[in-house]
Amino acid sequence: MANGEPRISEQRWSLKGQTALVTGGTRGIGHAIVEELAGFGARVHTCSRNQTELNDRLKEWKAKGFQVSGSVCDLLSRTQREELMKTVSSEFDAKLNILVNNAATTKMKRAENSTSEDYSFLMSTNLESSFHLSQLAYPLLKASANGNIVFISSVAGATALPGLSIYSATKGAINQLTKNLACEWAKDSIRVNTVAPWAVRTTVLKPGDNILLTA
Ligand SMILES: NC(=O)c1ccc[n+]([C@@H]2O[C@H](COP(=O)([O-])OP(=O)(O)OC[C@H]3O[C@@H](n4cnc5c(N)ncnc54)[C@H](OP(=O)(O)O)[C@@H]3O)[C@@H](O)[C@H]2O)c1
Repeated sequence: MANGEPRISEQRWSLKGQTALVTGGTRGIGHAIVEELAGFGARVHTCSRNQTELNDRLKEWKAKGFQVSGSVCDLLSRTQREELMKTVSSEFDAKLNILVNNAATTKMKRAENSTSEDYSFLMSTNLESSFHLSQLAYPLLKASANGNIVFISSVAGATALPGLSIYSATKGAINQLTKNLACEWAKDSIRVNTVAPWAVRTTVLKPGDNILLTA
């Protein structure tokens, strides 16, 4: 740790020697996940769309003694997802222990006002990219002989919240995808789980979205 004092949990277990890819690690929940994994000794790669913000985070993590690398990737792009996984594969010798499908976005809109562009944007960013990254990571996770996928879903994937129909559908689908992949890939020693947070004060919430934080 930065102050040289090991945390109590570090005395019990460690992630030293483990490798992780966390999407969307520059802010919010993804940022906390990167710090937690790196704090336990894992080598972590992360991505986001903003090079300047990514560089700033990488500098901060280096100063804290964390082993974190990063590359710019717009997860909307299939080609950029493939590039991301090539980078991860070469950095971690074609093995990966942990994939955290964290990056996602939302637009609060009533269903009748939502456009086909809103639908495609949310489905591609939140669901398709997580599925495709899991497919791309599969050989690396299998090669590690101890693979883990963690999806970041949402309470909105299990219960109806106002203005979140499409977002909620992406998260409901992720909940089911988790079960299917867990069954399909257990034989390859890959565990698949979902974490479903309630509202967390991060940059995903825009002004006016605070209904979720006060509900
Ligand atoms: N905050 C909540 O209340 C809440 C509640 C339940 C579930 N969740 C879930 O938790 C996860 C993290 O949310 P958050 O609140 O931490 O979000 P956030 O503060 O908006 O951070 C999102 C991160 O993902 C990156 N990102 C977004 N779109 C991307 C794209 N197309 N390609 C690459 N990177 C992208 C962002 O960087 P760039 O924008 O620079 O690319 C940023 O690093 C999401 O899956 C969200 O659905 C959040």
